[in-house]
Amino acid sequence: RKKVTLQKLNSLYAAKEPIATITAHDYPSGVFADKAHVELCLVGDSLAMVALGYDSTNQITLDEMLHHCRAVSRGAKHPFLVGDLPFGTYERSPDQALETSIRFIREGHMDAVKLEGGMEMEETVKKITTVGIPVLGHIGLTPQRHTALSGFKVQGKTLEKARLLLEDALALQSVGCFAIVLEAIPEPVATFITSQLRIPTIGIGAGSGCSGQVLVQLDALGAYDRLMPKFCKVFSQVGQASIAGLQEYVKEVKSRTFPDLQQHTYSMDPEELKKFN
Ligand code: KIV
Ligand code: NA
Repeated sequence: RKKVTLQKLNSLYAAKEPIATITAHDYPSGVFADKAHVELCLVGDSLAMVALGYDSTNQITLDEMLHHCRAVSRGAKHPFLVGDLPFGTYERSPDQALETSIRFIREGHMDAVKLEGGMEMEETVKKITTVGIPVLGHIGLTPQRHTALSGFKVQGKTLEKARLLLEDALALQSVGCFAIVLEAIPEPVATFITSQLRIPTIGIGAGSGCSGQVLVQLDALGAYDRLMPKFCKVFSQVGQASIAGLQEYVKEVKSRTFPDLQQHTYSMDPEELKKFN
């Protein structure tokens, strides 16, 4: 199997084959993504909440993100890898964003970066793409701005707001984004935006008209114990399976059924054993 390239993503887009994207946050989740043959793997800052238990994605630092990126890169050898620029590490200036992006490539071993925002990020995206670092855009519900948005709400619900989203998408496309995440947008709006672009859209809570889909891995696997957005489908119950497995482990430890004398235990040469008595 070959490593997924931008060219591969573009050929999927041209063939109208949805681009399967999932987040990962450590070595095992990277391996799972790889073995499930997702094409695009995002080290999203959502890991701040789902993998580290922070209350908000805005609490994670750049060094923490890079630590997780490296772990994912060791597990996900084939998907195209995108690292999420965390809050506070790219908004100050295009130069700051470029510095941070370079660290994602050199220290995080990512192939590309993602950042939140629309037309106001034009200069920033231009700066990063110009040096050859691919950028994934992200508009609609942008969680890093949840306070300004008064919560985690559907975006672009009026014609006026939908037009602004389209302008944002066109702006990001014009400065070289290779694709754009559309988060929490009514399906007709996301489908229309997708139809107006010549780059793929990756939807999350944006309906099936997008060029691809993304979910947060621990949400999709039922392994996050807090609030779950409406748009997330739970594809397996890893959380329940883990708890049940650990409960069984505790039970067997208490009853001394584990470890088993034959299966899990090292024996000793009888002659050697005699010397102990
Ligand atoms: O942080 C994240 O996981 C994301 C995706 C859900 C798009 O930004
Ligand atoms: Na994110």
